[in-house]
Amino acid sequence: MRNHIGSGYALILAMTVSVILHQLELVTGQARVPAMFQARVPAMFVLGDSLVDVGNNNFIASIARANYLPYGIDLNFRPTGRFSNGMNFVDLLAQLLGISSPPPFADPSTSGIRILGGVNYASAAAGILDETGQNYGDRYSLSRQVVNLEATLSKLRTMMSPQNFTNYKAKSLVVLVFGSNDYINNYLMPNIYSSSARYKPPEFANLLLSQYARQLLTLYSLGLRKVFIPGVGPLGCIPSQRASGRAPPGRCLDSVNQILGTFNKGLKSLVDQINQRSPGAIFVYGNTYRAVGEILNNPASYGFSVVDRACCGIGRNQGEITCMPLQFPCLNRSQYVFWDAFHPTQTANSILVRRAFYGPLSDAYPVNVQQMTLLY
Ligand SMILES: *[C@@H]1O[C@H](CO)[C@@H](O)[C@H](O)[C@H]1NC(C)=O
Ligand SMILES: *[C@@H]1O[C@H](CO)[C@@H](O)[C@H](O)[C@H]1NC(C)=O
Repeated sequence: MRNHIGSGYALILAMTVSVILHQLELVTGQARVPAMFQARVPAMFVLGDSLVDVGNNNFIASIARANYLPYGIDLNFRPTGRFSNGMNFVDLLAQLLGISSPPPFADPSTSGIRILGGVNYASAAAGILDETGQNYGDRYSLSRQVVNLEATLSKLRTMMSPQNFTNYKAKSLVVLVFGSNDYINNYLMPNIYSSSARYKPPEFANLLLSQYARQLLTLYSLGLRKVFIPGVGPLGCIPSQRASGRAPPGRCLDSVNQILGTFNKGLKSLVDQINQRSPGAIFVYGNTYRAVGEILNNPASYGFSVVDRACCGIGRNQGEITCMPLQFPCLNRSQYVFWDAFHPTQTANSILVRRAFYGPLSDAYPVNVQQMTLLY
């Protein structure tokens, strides 16, 4: 890995981290109450794409859906709209936080006291840009998801005292998982989208980041104070991209991975900038690219034996056509990194969640998710 952190910058970083860790000691030092009474994170609000959709697309006119078997085969054969064989990243994150995975916003039964533990707005095919994913039909883009979050917050405001509401928002965790579709279902589809003709890769990354920045600042202005934002993974390694015929056999599509660098580096420095000008808040960058890369480079040490093919799918790398209704999936799902042409298996998700939650600075920056829940 290239070291792009200058020494002066590293010093400031070290000081920031030591201040944060000191605060953390103060917080944990007084935390002698049993875990069940702590309620560190009263709610989780999830915005994102199919990596964290828990069924929103079942309720809109989209062909990007996962409400059929074998999706959910390892959730007691219940296809819920999750794009995995079992639990996705936020389901597993909720488990580590000791809370329920929040219900989908678009489900009419997500109302009343059911919104108290948070809501999931994520929508398959959604991107940071509104146009992204339109090849799949309707979807809640980032900006629509923020509008939906505002609607939830105005309901929650009526359910508690002003002081409690301020406290609730400050302690709640917001998770945003975006960016993959702005590449897979926009920039890398030149026949449908003009973005690659209009922007060079770094310009496109900066366009995404400027949109993302505006929405992240909106979250702060709404009173939310804990925000976790994973970057994009090595998309050139997912079965659909390996199956494009442009990758050498057994290799990832390096040209795709290379154009993601500006986005991930820029997102990390955006997190730094926002933390500097947002008192009382902590924004955290998750290094998904590195975590997935390490799994793909050392699969055996994580118990995986298949990294280049989907467990469920058709064609080259089982990634040319994604998992079809009632298709028979692979049997050893815990040995596969990828469930379908685009999404990880539950086993891969659980590794990514643990790294985000407990990992060192190289996994989550400037603190990990567990540390951020203990701050303030
Ligand atoms: C505010 O929070 C306190 C402590 O959890 C609780 O006892 C009280 O009932 C809450 N008040 C309202 C109006 O929600
Ligand atoms: C599943 O894994 C087991 C143990 O690693 C192996 O013996 C078996 O052949 C595998 N089955 C398939 C269908 O890959």
